Amino acid sequence: MRVALAADHGGVQLRDELLNRLADTGHELIDLGGDGADPTDDYPDFARRLALAIRDGVADRGILVCGSGIGASVAANKVRGIRAAVAHDTYSAHQGVEHDDLNVLCLGGRVIGVEPAVECARAFLGASFSGAERHARRVAKVLAIEAEESRAG
Ligand code: RB5
Repeated sequence: MRVALAADHGGVQLRDELLNRLADTGHELIDLGGDGADPTDDYPDFARRLALAIRDGVADRGILVCGSGIGASVAANKVRGIRAAVAHDTYSAHQGVEHDDLNVLCLGGRVIGVEPAVECARAFLGASFSGAERHARRVAKVLAIEAEESRAG
């Protein structure tokens, strides 16, 4: 799988740790920045960059890190086709994919330690959408909201 990673200044340290620690997963890791040089950089810029990479087929999934994970998830979810959420526990990280077809894992660099973050990322990357009828029906309803809203302009 091609996995894009991006972070604002609040998440860059954890993002760098993840790049190192996930190198053995066999996934292609794509670093989309930032470099943390600017302590006033804005999470929507990195969320947008990563979300568009998935929307445009450059990456299959993403891991987005900001201070809390919250702003990153709010911003990424504005892009069509993105299903992003903060998951700081392994159950949510894999169940989000299995039930909800999560494609972006958001993490808070100021909230979660490196070890649990790595475990969450591994749980997220190791999971697949179940395809069960009830899960597919629910995801289809989520996509219907998205389509309806984009028609409403
Ligand atoms: C940046 O200081 C911080 O607000 C941001 O990384 C994030 O936590 C927002 O949700």
